[in-house]
Amino acid sequence: MQVNLFPTPISIFHIENDQFTSIRDTVNKYIEDNFDNFNNSWIKSNTLSSYNYGKDNKLPDIYYNEQLEKAILIAGDTYLQENKFPDKELLIKDLWINVSTKGSFQEVHCHTTRDNVLSGIIYISIEDTESKTNFLNPNKKFKTISEDTVLAKDCELNVHSGVIVVFPSFLEHYVSENKSDNKRITVAFNLSYK
Ligand SMILES: [Fe+2]
Repeated sequence: MQVNLFPTPISIFHIENDQFTSIRDTVNKYIEDNFDNFNNSWIKSNTLSSYNYGKDNKLPDIYYNEQLEKAILIAGDTYLQENKFPDKELLIKDLWINVSTKGSFQEVHCHTTRDNVLSGIIYISIEDTESKTNFLNPNKKFKTISEDTVLAKDCELNVHSGVIVVFPSFLEHYVSENKSDNKRITVAFNLSYK
């Protein structure tokens, strides 16, 4: 018998085609209209983003997309249920868009600011050959036993466009350098309890 103590669940959901088309169109429209305002918002990264420190990170009302809100809240609720979290209503606290061009990367970071519970990423546009999100093993003690066991390794998820990933906000992650000519576009979000 084995007890899987202290697991770190990450949920992967596939957004249904019509719903994803609607979300992708809104995101692309937002980028088209606002790209001049995209910045490198993090000190050790060079990914262009709509994120702004100290501000409300939401899309303005004119870009409101019911399908986007639904996809995120259903993914968050499902995560809570599957992992026996308290049955509380979730709130999308932050939502921003990242555009990574050739040479862009994202440093190791996590989203444990304020009262974030869960965080997530929607992959809007990503090629199979591009680097994906790498999650760091939170149980660093495994590395003191052996770096070779799968339990000690970091993990790059094999995701594609139309996928939404939900993970606990404390989980550190990074994105290695984009070596392709394709733009990698993602929506990132934080969820807290309402
Ligand atoms: Fe992140």
